[in-house]
Amino acid sequence: MSLVEWDDSLAIGVKLIDKQHKELFRIINSFSERIGKEDPSFTLKVTLDSLKSYAHYHFTTEEKLLQKNRCPLHFRHQGMHAAFAGLVAKLEERQDSIDRKGLLELQAFLVDWLTTHIKKQDMPLRAYFAP
Ligand SMILES: [Fe+2]
Repeated sequence: MSLVEWDDSLAIGVKLIDKQHKELFRIINSFSERIGKEDPSFTLKVTLDSLKSYAHYHFTTEEKLLQKNRCPLHFRHQGMHAAFAGLVAKLEERQDSIDRKGLLELQAFLVDWLTTHIKKQDMPLRAYFAP
């Protein structure tokens, strides 16, 4: 399973946020490594558990900073985070029926969402993520 390598093109330049983004990649990589090695439903459950709690923690960190630094796009950004959290929550409905193919599709989706979100949505707001 291909893992996602962190590189400088993903760094927004704020230590705390970059550290949290790296942790999200670590969660996705650990998910990738589990695929095919255990029951797909269990892989999905473990992944959703850590993703839900860490993504919530990370999104809250970002949103607090955007609010504190009076980012004009604060609510728009918050909406994107909420949409992602909603999608992840919806995946719980597939927990009993997910198979290896479904997990691989999910892995591709997560990598794409996270890299696109960081580069296209977080990056332009980097000045507002100052602690
Ligand atoms: Fe974000």
